[in-house]
Amino acid sequence: MANSDHVLFLPYPCQGHINPMLQLGKRFAARGLVATLAPTRFILRTARPEPGTVRLAAISDGFDQAGYTEAGSVSAYLDRFEQAGSRTLDDLLRTEAAAGRPVRLLVFDAFLPWAGDVGRRHGLATASFLTQSATVNLIYCHVNAGRIELPVRAAVELPGLPRLEPRDLPSYLPELICLYPAYLEMVLNQFKNLEKVDEVLINTVHELEREEMDYLKRACGAKSVGPTIPSLYLDNRLPSDSDYGFHLFAPDVALCMAWLDSKPPASVVYVSFGSMSALSPEQTSELAFGLASTGKPFLWVVRSPEATKLPRGFAEEYGAERGLIVAWSPQLEVLAHAAVGCFVTHCGWNSTVEGLSLGVPLVGVPQWTDQPTNAKYVEDVWEVGVRVRREEGGLVRRKEIERCVREVMEGGRSGEMSRNAVKWRELAKAAVEEKGSSEENIAGLIAKYCNQKA
Ligand code: UDX
Repeated sequence: MANSDHVLFLPYPCQGHINPMLQLGKRFAARGLVATLAPTRFILRTARPEPGTVRLAAISDGFDQAGYTEAGSVSAYLDRFEQAGSRTLDDLLRTEAAAGRPVRLLVFDAFLPWAGDVGRRHGLATASFLTQSATVNLIYCHVNAGRIELPVRAAVELPGLPRLEPRDLPSYLPELICLYPAYLEMVLNQFKNLEKVDEVLINTVHELEREEMDYLKRACGAKSVGPTIPSLYLDNRLPSDSDYGFHLFAPDVALCMAWLDSKPPASVVYVSFGSMSALSPEQTSELAFGLASTGKPFLWVVRSPEATKLPRGFAEEYGAERGLIVAWSPQLEVLAHAAVGCFVTHCGWNSTVEGLSLGVPLVGVPQWTDQPTNAKYVEDVWEVGVRVRREEGGLVRRKEIERCVREVMEGGRSGEMSRNAVKWRELAKAAVEEKGSSEENIAGLIAKYCNQKA
């Protein structure tokens, strides 16, 4: 192995950002390069990732004992992360060079723009990795360019995008008072110093967001590298894949698989709201009774802090047979299972792409950040599902949950949605096959920045 074939991946330390970077790392490893993923020390200690083709190392966010929760606020976290992260990334790059594995290309999460500066000081090629969709990133570019005035009060028509109503935009933009100013700053800062990086990589499939990607390609040379899902799932081969895992929470794989095995094809509603969303007790209750009234079996991920919001006696009444409630699931295995016929999702970008790439029709229940835009595309652009309608005040009633699940699984348009889901699945799969759009981009990066022949 030539010395210059080492690529370092630096994710933002949360589940939805680690997963795609790990999978991207595997694509480089599969082409014979040394790929190292470096989350934070806290994450590495607590998540116990399974061994795989990607090496692991760590930097510090300055909160090695308890991670983000120690910080008190997002801005305090990000400030300290920049200081401790710059220092420890610098150390890591020196250590790798001293060990005979000098890093050649640094792929860093666009939430951590300072990492690019550290990489450049070491003379490395740098690539900024945007975890969210091309569409959402393009919207933020338009905000930065002053083409959208905040808060957004009316529909916007912008280059490279369909007409978007305020409710279709990332949640920070139509809010009268931004509830998460530090997050807004972080997503807008992703484009700071972009002219200094060698590459801009987007966690998407070009064919899924053609116009948006074309626009970003022209504007900043952006390249798509998704879907960041192991190929074996796309090939419909279910795991023995111990190489997948970097779960921050431990899933009971055997339990979920055995339960799904006992259900007929396309009969199960899989429900998950990702790693961060928190529903109100009232919303949890409406969702619970909505699922119950569909009469369909459901596999529902209710993370531990959320479990107290379940209606009293619900888990006992529906537990195990009709509805399996778990604290965390092996989501890719679940979505790839033939028993799953519908995915009720918060439309986090990874979940959306996973559903699309595995051909599962979706019910979008977006919560915040980029999710409303993803849900809009699910319903109106890719036409692989529906987005729930909220009441005044924001609640999604049980009747609406039931209506949406039925529409996707047995309604007049369900056949069309399933056919569309299969179409997108094929396009996603083709993108990461030899000569596919994403695979070509990865091969191009290797040819340009590494000695290894792509
Ligand atoms: C966050 C944001 O909320 C999301 O909107 C953004 O696009 C990325 O960062 P998160 O909310 O966790 O992510 O959602 P998502 O992007 O869907 O990522 C969750 C990941 O966890 C997915 O890769 C999913 O496969 C995995 N997951 C989720 C599991 O493995 N098991 C589960 O039970 C739930």
